[in-house]
Order: sequence, then structure tokens, then C-alpha cells
Amino acid sequence: MSIKDLKAYWGFSRSPFSKELAPSMLFASRAHSEAVARISWCIEEGALGLFTGEVGSGKSVAARAAVAGLDGSRHTVVYLANPAVGARGMYAQIVSALGGTPRFHKAALIPQAMAALAAQEAEWGRRVVVVLDEAQGMDEALEELRLLMAADMDSKAAFSCLIIGQPLLRRRVRLGAYVALNQRIALRYVLEGMAKDETGAYIAHHLKIAGRTDTIFADAAVEVVHQVSRGLPRAVNNLATQALVAAYAEKKSVVDEASARMAAAEVDAE
Ligand SMILES: Nc1ncnc2c1ncn2[C@@H]1O[C@H](COP(=O)(O)OP(=O)(O)OP(=O)(O)O)[C@@H](O)[C@H]1O
Ligand SMILES: [Mg+2]
Repeated sequence: MSIKDLKAYWGFSRSPFSKELAPSMLFASRAHSEAVARISWCIEEGALGLFTGEVGSGKSVAARAAVAGLDGSRHTVVYLANPAVGARGMYAQIVSALGGTPRFHKAALIPQAMAALAAQEAEWGRRVVVVLDEAQGMDEALEELRLLMAADMDSKAAFSCLIIGQPLLRRRVRLGAYVALNQRIALRYVLEGMAKDETGAYIAHHLKIAGRTDTIFADAAVEVVHQVSRGLPRAVNNLATQALVAAYAEKKSVVDEASARMAAAEVDAE
């Protein structure tokens, strides 16, 4: 059985639950909408925000959506998502993204990055947005992030910063090494899973994008998907896809509870 067969069976014009949705096609769950609004606030205010949520809760998608809504002529986004980036890598990527050539020695690189950040706002009227995604693995970069911020507590940082990561990050920033950083966090937001009614609407939304506007998932199937996924979008995607496969294998015209349970058992076994 191929994806092509599955699409033909269900009459989809494209693969449902695709990862590559344009920002305008995203589902506006409460968590997603609230996260996007808060990320946008941080960017506008030049603030430091901490966004956490379980694996697959939609953190990166929300950050991408907020960034896509920015005026490109007034913002420069530096997106770091490699946990192995290290402090030097962070400085170097900021300098490169702002059009400079990173100096070799770290002692020279730090002031270079600070100057490049300050110049964006002062000389070009551009707000820099530094995004540290997968930040639960970026201990060194996080420890040094505060060095890039204004030395004077009261003055504004020269850039907005979004720290994004898994739940353990929330506790980690409270540790001693991050006192100064923790104090500068202006906003903390936790992305929760979707509520049950939202999970159903989320599934319907993805199916509609794939070309089916009628009901394919029975209520009982949605219920199972919601329970098992706890409303976390990536888990919903995986379960719903497996449920479509299971229903197709038995030549059903609707994804019923049995198909969803089969999908849940398979995803569990992975
Ligand atoms: N608002 C949304 N509309 C449609 N699909 C979404 C939405 N939010 C999340 N998704 C789906 O869920 C998947 C997981 O989202 P995302 O990659 O943002 O999670 P994450 O929280 O960054 O996970 P990780 O901790 O693994 O980095 C996306 O690939 C996308 O398919
Ligand atoms: Mg992510």
C-alpha cells in the first residue's frame, strides 16, 4: 500500500496532515493563536520570551507563523535550531546573519555581535529577532545570551529574543547559572495540547486542505485520537494518518473507533 493508493482511496488531492503547511493554512487552536500573539508581542517589545511545550505541541510552527507575519523590511530574524550550536556558534551566526564576517577569537566575537545587533536598530531601523529553538539542549548559548543584552538592567535589549524548548527548559532557566537571564524573561508561555473539540476541528481542518469536506472520522474515532494524543498536534497527525490506513485496509468508508484503536496500538508499538 502506497501513499498514492491511500490518497486515491480517500479522494485526497494532497497528502493530509502534511508538515509543510503555509502559515495561512494553519489551524488556529487556542494554544496556537495565543502563542503566536505572545511571540508577536515579544518581538514588538524587544523583549525576551520563554516558550515551552511538550514534543510536537506546535512550538516551532507557532514561531514560524509569527515570524511570517513580520514586515520583512523592518525585521531581521536569526533562527538557531541546532542544539549543538554553542556560545561561539550563536555569536557567529548572529554576526553572519547581520552581514558581517565573524571574528575568530571569541573575545573579539562577543563585542562584534553586540555592535552588529545595536547597529541594526540604530542605523537601519531594523529589529533583530533571535530565535533559539530546541533550546533545552543549548546550555552554553543560554548561559552567554545575557552577555548580548544590555548591561544596564533598565535599558532595552538591542533585539527581541525567543527561547523555545521542551518543558524541562522552564525549570532549567531557574538554575543558578541562568539567574541574570531568568530575570530578564518578560513573558513565559506554555503551549498545551488542544481541547477535545479542537482536536476534532483540527482533524477536519487537515482533511479539508486535503480535499475532503465531509465527515470521515466518526466521533468515537476522534475521541480515541484525542485521548491517546492528548491533543498534541504531531501525535494527532500520526494517529489520524494511521487510522486512515487502518480503515482503508478494511475497505471502510469512515474511520471508526476500531480503526482509531488499531492506529493507537500501532503508534504505541513504535
Ligand atoms: N496550528 C497548527 N496547524 C496545523 N498543523 C500544526 C499546527 N501546529 C502544529 N501542527 C503540526 O504539528 C507538527 C508539530 O509541530 P511543531 O514542529 O511546531 O512542534 P514542536 O512543539 O516544535 O515539537 P518539537 O518539540 O519536537 O520541536 C507540525 O509539523 C504540524 O504538522
Ligand atoms: Mg520544534
